[in-house]
Amino acid sequence: MTQTKDVKIVDPEADDALALAKMHVQSWHDTYTGMHGATTEWIRKRTVNRFNEDGLSETKKLFAAPRQHPESYYFKLAKIEDKVVGFVSGQKTNEEQELSGFYVARDQQGTGLASKLMDMIMSWFNASKTIVLFSAKDNIRAIKFYEKYGFKVDNDAKVEQKYKPLTIIQMTKQGDKA
Ligand SMILES: CC(C)(COP(=O)(O)OP(=O)(O)OC[C@H]1O[C@@H](n2cnc3c(N)ncnc32)[C@H](O)[C@@H]1OP(=O)(O)O)[C@@H](O)C(=O)NCCC(=O)NCCS
Repeated sequence: MTQTKDVKIVDPEADDALALAKMHVQSWHDTYTGMHGATTEWIRKRTVNRFNEDGLSETKKLFAAPRQHPESYYFKLAKIEDKVVGFVSGQKTNEEQELSGFYVARDQQGTGLASKLMDMIMSWFNASKTIVLFSAKDNIRAIKFYEKYGFKVDNDAKVEQKYKPLTIIQMTKQGDKA
């Protein structure tokens, strides 16, 4: 499948907050239902606040951060007209770099959109320094995708398990000079 040519990669605007929440929550259902025993109801409870005023306001803050501090925060949306079909986000300090969010809608997977988003954030990161990300242990498709970019599962990392029943693992890409 090739990438739909109508997909545009853009900086997020406050007006995109609801569309992002819809896409992200749908992707949670598509990706995690049944994984490590995660149920639809658990995902619903875990994500319901994304749609209320507080949740949308949090999202708008994340959208604004790259404008205020482009050296520290990254956030891009992939859109088809007003619909969000993917996003990538990250943050970096002098000490740490994290790929913090990476989701592509089911009907855009396997199209090359994920690689396009990944290439963009990888050129924003400092290649000489380590980058980390967190993934569900059984999210094989994501893990394989990240491995193609040089990330390796870090079995020694201590990871906060804040998404139980999902088991979260850390993946690390060493910097060129690390
Ligand atoms: C992870 C994600 C961004 C990867 O994007 P994608 O467009 O699916 O990526 P690709 O099609 O390049 O597939 C990645 C690799 O997964 C593997 N793969 C493909 N389909 C698979 C499947 N059904 N099951 C298991 N592995 C699969 C292949 O190794 C593929 O690499 P290949 O190009 O060598 O065949 C995307 O699947 C996604 O957004 N998933 C849902 C949200 C998510 O899991 N985000 C990550 C959170 S940490």
